[in-house]
Amino acid sequence: MAFPVTRPRRLRATPALRALVAETQVSCDDLIYPLFVDARARQPEEIAAMPGQYRWPVERLGDEARRVRDVGLRSVLLFGLPDWKDATGSSSWHDEGVVQRAIGAIKRAAPELVVITDVCLCEYTDHGHCGVLDGERVDNDTTLDLLARQALSHARAGADIVAPSDMMDGRVGALRAVLDREGYADTPILSYAAKYSSAFYGPFREAADSAPAFGDRRSYQMDPRNAREALREVDEDLAEGADMVMVKPALAYLDIIRQVRERVHVPLVAYNVSGEYSMVKVTSAAGFVDERTMVREVMTAIKRAGADLIITYHAPDVARWIREGRWTD
Ligand code: PBG
Repeated sequence: MAFPVTRPRRLRATPALRALVAETQVSCDDLIYPLFVDARARQPEEIAAMPGQYRWPVERLGDEARRVRDVGLRSVLLFGLPDWKDATGSSSWHDEGVVQRAIGAIKRAAPELVVITDVCLCEYTDHGHCGVLDGERVDNDTTLDLLARQALSHARAGADIVAPSDMMDGRVGALRAVLDREGYADTPILSYAAKYSSAFYGPFREAADSAPAFGDRRSYQMDPRNAREALREVDEDLAEGADMVMVKPALAYLDIIRQVRERVHVPLVAYNVSGEYSMVKVTSAAGFVDERTMVREVMTAIKRAGADLIITYHAPDVARWIREGRWTD
């Protein structure tokens, strides 16, 4: 059968019909909001490359956590900017470190929020790489122990989920072993399993002061030309004990999200990264596109590709639009 008997436009005629047959929904429950906490900030400092995002002093984080909860979000992802850095990133595993204090502040203000912590060394090393150096090489195996110490210290401080983003081989297994041994067998690991080496992280590196002092991250993050390799990374992380896996960035990697979705049965997270956020903010501020419609299309595409959860800087805006009945029209 074909036109004129069939007319796909029949089901697109009104908003009510379109809503009835919509295949993809986005809800507040799907969203994770990243927060930057800065040990040296006295006031919230807006991040120039990410309009509307701030580096928060620990003392102000409780208010922000309440705002995030009250708008209807369930979860935040924490990044720390420490007050000092060294070659091994040792400020990342101090019990009084910036992320450790931030977890406490959030838990006191909004205990229902699920607190996920990013586990990596790049914000804490003076050279800005995600592991320790041996000459100019990032040394995989000596880094594992330091990442595990950091994750353990986050778990002790009350983190609900730890999320290693360094892309060292074997980090999930290393974290799992230490967490299990130290009494945190129930702390889940969200692995940044397929994390690509991407220009879309540019604004984040300004936000987190984590740009590498020399070279780039291509010897540990994935090559954008590879898709099969992403599946291998996911398989290995699951074998090492990952509870959830992530694909990052999202928009240029929707094919990877789809392939991982078809392969695994654990929750799949996609990271709508800083550069993707900035593109929307800058083009909409210039009046070239409509921000809300564009954000809706971006969120919908990531869910349609197969993600269960989306880490996104747009999360509070999306939650507000959903609440105000301005998300679908
Ligand atoms: C730390 C880390 C990065 C991001 C998340 N964790 C930066 C990087 O790998 O250079 C990027 C997040 C974003 O761009 O929003 N390794």
